[in-house]
Amino acid sequence: TKKMILDLDTGVDDALAIAYAVASPEVDLIGIVSSYGNVLVDKSAENSLDLLELLGATDVPVFLGESHSSTTDHFDVMEISQKIHGVNGIGEVKVPKAKRAVESEGAVDFIIDAAHKYGDNLILVPTGPQTNLDAAITKDPEIAKLIGNMTFMGGALTVPGNVTAFTEANINQDPAAADRVFRSPLKSTMVGLDVTLRTLLTKKETQQWRDLGTVAGEKYADITDYYIDAYYNLDIDKNGCAIHDPLAVGVAIDPSYAKLIDLNMKVTHDDPANPADVGRTIGDTARLNDPTTNMKVAVDVDKDRYLAHFMDLLTNLFAK
Ligand code: BDR
Ligand code: CA
Repeated sequence: TKKMILDLDTGVDDALAIAYAVASPEVDLIGIVSSYGNVLVDKSAENSLDLLELLGATDVPVFLGESHSSTTDHFDVMEISQKIHGVNGIGEVKVPKAKRAVESEGAVDFIIDAAHKYGDNLILVPTGPQTNLDAAITKDPEIAKLIGNMTFMGGALTVPGNVTAFTEANINQDPAAADRVFRSPLKSTMVGLDVTLRTLLTKKETQQWRDLGTVAGEKYADITDYYIDAYYNLDIDKNGCAIHDPLAVGVAIDPSYAKLIDLNMKVTHDDPANPADVGRTIGDTARLNDPTTNMKVAVDVDKDRYLAHFMDLLTNLFAK
């Protein structure tokens, strides 16, 4: 089985990604590193610890990551994130407190150690900014060649972004870091907004979890319903909520859930005169004929098959 590390800014869809990875017999979740974004980094780590406890996965260690982007010295949560995920990141739902804390080792060193230990068998799944991974590659560039794959949620190939017309939130948080990661030899798979916006969850599904009559089922239903309501009230989508982050886990488990094309990408980050463009993921023309293409970009999803797998695994996990 592949070893997986999740790198999360634990909001609602990150919370769903945790459950999916924990439930999957296809991968061994060896750790969660925390990032900033939907919440501050400490809150992200706290949410991950609490959710792991709720899921009975107390053997999965959590590591504290970077608290802000590589080009700033500070990070404030955006108001829109608080509206979508709740101020606590998990839909204002109270979950029992974890009985343990983050590891003493930091996120960057954990990523480096895991890359050397597991090499090609390691999949990294960032579903927040790529600041931790960039810092790890900067500290030990060799790991970019060792890690089997990075399958990340972020960017947008064809549709408008969700921060500016061109940029998606995760990449927008630290465009310079993502650009360095994209240009490194790391083999990666981009699961962008184009495809994740097609994967909608509704209250019909969350009701199935509620009907299980377990604490995990009820809490996860409450957390997700907050996000579904936010999608409705903010007019993002009236038909349900996009479960962005779980799709990165799904494609990491089984790449055939997505239609993938080979395309090296870069990130615009050095054009302050054009702020709407900063953080945009775009094909790297300089590498169009590069035979060492190391990025695959998802352009579509086998929605029904993926959602069935996701629901099957989560419902079984919450039933325990
Ligand atoms: C991404 O941004 C975050 O708000 C979500 O958790 C997801 O990772 C979507 O753009
Ligand atoms: Ca996220």
